[in-house]
Amino acid sequence: MGDKPRVVSFLASGRGSNFRAVAGRIVAGKIPGARAGRLVVDNPQAGAIAAAREMKIPVDVVDYADYGKNRRSLFDAAILETLRGHSPDLIVAAGFMKILSAETVNSFPNRIINIHPSLLPAFPGVKAQEQAFQYGVKITGCTVHFVDTGLDSGPIILQKALTVGEDWSLETLRREILKLEHQALPEAVGLVCAGRVTVEGRRIRVRAPKKWWSF
Ligand code: GRF
Repeated sequence: MGDKPRVVSFLASGRGSNFRAVAGRIVAGKIPGARAGRLVVDNPQAGAIAAAREMKIPVDVVDYADYGKNRRSLFDAAILETLRGHSPDLIVAAGFMKILSAETVNSFPNRIINIHPSLLPAFPGVKAQEQAFQYGVKITGCTVHFVDTGLDSGPIILQKALTVGEDWSLETLRREILKLEHQALPEAVGLVCAGRVTVEGRRIRVRAPKKWWSF
């Protein structure tokens, strides 16, 4: 990627803490080479909307309830059309709870990234922290990966790990993983926007900056 700031669009469904973690840093000028685009949400109750308003980031609501399961293809088409309208260089799925259609994924090759709260390929899908907790793993964490047409299966950009405390509850685990997510996602966005990420099939090469951004 060149010198022009990269336009970063966002997809979110819920609370929006990862959206806030990335967009907040972009707006504060802490992610060189990135410019905040727009946020797309799939429900009008998403907490991410309030965060976007605070940061003066425009929001597009593509309400899943207007479509429903039977009209899923229309919802997918609306998401794709909305994203195309942003002309984004990068799309960050920050807690977006719908699987993107193959057409959407293929329209933005290696330009959509997702944050997942486990060390993939372990525990893909929903309730990843709960899956890891129930399994009894001693080490877990989070993964930022490019989105492909599978479920949480795209090439991995970066991962952050933690050791599960002996006395941790599921809530503690969720909270500690979330802290890592809030570091990992801005870092990954920074790396991609700085042109430091090269995709070679499944293997991603990351050229770390001389001076790492401190998030
Ligand atoms: C995060 O745990 C993320 O990893 C997962 O969904 C959750 C979203 O949380 N994909 P938030 O809306 O960013 O607070």
